[in-house]
Amino acid sequence: MLLSGCVGFGEEYTRIEGFSNRDAGAICLKGTTGTARPGNPPSRLAETPCGMINAIGLQNPGVEAVVNDILPTLDFDETRFIANASGSTIEEYIEVVRKFDESPIDAIEINISCPNVKEGGAAFGNDPDMSARVVAACRAVTSKAIITKLSPNQTDIAENARRCIEAGTDGLAVINTLMGMAIDIKSQQPVIGNVQGGLSGPAIKPVALLKVHQVYQVARAHDIPIIGQGGINSPEDAVEFMLAGATTIGLGTSLFYDPMICKKVNAGLLDYLEQHQLGSVAELTGALKLPEKVQVCGECE
Ligand SMILES: Cc1cc2nc3c(=O)[nH]c(=O)nc-3n(C[C@H](O)[C@H](O)[C@H](O)COP(=O)(O)O)c2cc1C
Repeated sequence: MLLSGCVGFGEEYTRIEGFSNRDAGAICLKGTTGTARPGNPPSRLAETPCGMINAIGLQNPGVEAVVNDILPTLDFDETRFIANASGSTIEEYIEVVRKFDESPIDAIEINISCPNVKEGGAAFGNDPDMSARVVAACRAVTSKAIITKLSPNQTDIAENARRCIEAGTDGLAVINTLMGMAIDIKSQQPVIGNVQGGLSGPAIKPVALLKVHQVYQVARAHDIPIIGQGGINSPEDAVEFMLAGATTIGLGTSLFYDPMICKKVNAGLLDYLEQHQLGSVAELTGALKLPEKVQVCGECE
């Protein structure tokens, strides 16, 4: 999957020479709210060692414009398109999901983990009760598949996943960005206009892998697929996420420096399957071989 916020509304990608929508199983559109949002003041991006911090602030033209003006320009025959629904209140999530429910979109991702907006977003996603309420409210107004995007910025992501599954989610996206900050020592000011932002890219991969492994312990009992994401940069990374429990994987920040990375990841996955005499990537999901006696507290060692 191409991840939300990293490919605009899908149409930008079709202009890149050599890219075919068939390279990706699905394209997730930019976070969409009930009404248009201008986003946060600049700067909105800062490069970090092995990653970047963003605080776009959910800039988007609003759900009406996305459904009426953008979706008709997308080629639904070639690939799947997934909406990314965001909101400041439960009512706003309902409004956005209801509108997408009446559209040709293939599935709806509920973004309860955006760290870059003052109300809603992570405020919902870091509280299991609120997460479950948002998912249940969205479930009630759509028959399309719902994917809930979980926040890594919380105490017990597995418990949150369990609550979202009970509330009716069909899939889980694990993880959204981690909260971060950068400071310009010349001006002695924050680099990001919003002061803080979401850290993504290879820097967050070890955290994301552990979160996928933790969520998988809950999700597998309910047969709920996980879209593993966070710093995936190579076929080897993709294999790691699948071994940890992901059914499929998403590419976000890596697209910024290699828009063609999907082809490499797909080709590398096929090589890996061949080398290990596996018939399908599905055989990798959760196939991690754990030591018999698992150390509970790795950080004490
Ligand atoms: C510039 C930028 C904008 C993003 N916007 C959204 C968004 O609108 N909605 C959302 O759910 N996630 C958003 N994300 C998070 C990504 O979809 C992804 O979950 C996260 O970056 C981790 O994957 P990665 O390390 O491969 O980028 C954004 C990420 C970046 C870098």
